[in-house]
Amino acid sequence: MDKSKRAAVLAGNWKMNKTPAQAAELLDAIIPAVKDADCTVICCTPFVDLSVAVEKCKGTNVKIGAQNCHFKESGAYTGEVAANMLTEMGVEYVIIGHSERRQYFGETDETVNLRTKAALAAGLKVIICVGEMLDERENGVFEDIVGRQTKIALLGIDKAELKNIIIAYEPVWAIGTGKTATAEQAGEACGYIRSVVAKLYDNEAAEGLTIQYGGSMNPGNAAELLAQKDVDGGLIGGASLKAPDFKALVEAASK
Ligand code: 13P
Repeated sequence: MDKSKRAAVLAGNWKMNKTPAQAAELLDAIIPAVKDADCTVICCTPFVDLSVAVEKCKGTNVKIGAQNCHFKESGAYTGEVAANMLTEMGVEYVIIGHSERRQYFGETDETVNLRTKAALAAGLKVIICVGEMLDERENGVFEDIVGRQTKIALLGIDKAELKNIIIAYEPVWAIGTGKTATAEQAGEACGYIRSVVAKLYDNEAAEGLTIQYGGSMNPGNAAELLAQKDVDGGLIGGASLKAPDFKALVEAASK
């Protein structure tokens, strides 16, 4: 299967930005701007914006995602949100294991796996984030790190479930820094992740998997990154908060 047969997916990760009123305003600008997209378009908003976002995007081609969910169905987990709470609201996607969760909130490869399984069981599609730190790249161990993150995230997950999984390669040193991985680095890392998935499952599974690049992707560098044969889309932070930039990225990801 070649790249053109895989789903191209452009997702915005709004991180901790936009109040519900601001989210409504941004979506009012995004929805008409991306209506002709020839790729899957997702906006992952803060929890408190999800309700307004789902409502706004009904009947449009913009899908809504959350930025995390817990691995238990319910219980004494103050401050957490369960996967079935999201599906009941009409949320379709969830980001799991973003490096900011790993860095600041104690997310581990093991909890990424648990959260992913819970999200899939509830019917969500999952964007699993992996990526190395700068020193890990400089020390030549990025494959070990990204390989381990990928393998543990997918532990116990059947091949049939992979259709509901996207992997986002986000080198931590490129996130919010303005320092983008070169197209070659992004392509090489996404290709490596695909080879790990091929070993875990088989070639068919690996060839069908959408793998995104994330980290300072913007309208100026997107075309080159997205031209890489193993880069099937993007997970966008800063540029997803500006409708004209997001539109340009969606156009770059469209086939
Ligand atoms: P930036 O695009 O702001 O670098 O963020 C990338 C990211 O972390 C998306 O999840």
